[in-house]
Amino acid sequence: MFQIIGKEPEAKTCDAILGITDEGAEIMEEYEGSPALDAGLLAAAQAVEHYEMSRYGTLRTWALELGLNDAAGLLQTTLDEEQATDLALTSIATSVVNQKAEG
Ligand SMILES: [Fe+2]
Repeated sequence: MFQIIGKEPEAKTCDAILGITDEGAEIMEEYEGSPALDAGLLAAAQAVEHYEMSRYGTLRTWALELGLNDAAGLLQTTLDEEQATDLALTSIATSVVNQKAEG
């Protein structure tokens, strides 16, 4: 991506994703040993995927607006991967984990 746009990448802490992962850690503590643990962790993992989808989707659109079509293509590929992961998590949640949590 950065090669395409000719810029050096810079690291920056993302408070939003830290909040989402903190929430996951909280779920692990609160539901340790409970059948609801996996359902909670799946929900936390999906929150991460949805956040990623939001950011990659926005960046893809901005790249298109700026005429950076190669960059937009890479971002779309990553967005597709995030969406596939989200769908896989939904499939796991609906097939076993939530039923187990309901007991
Ligand atoms: Fe992801």
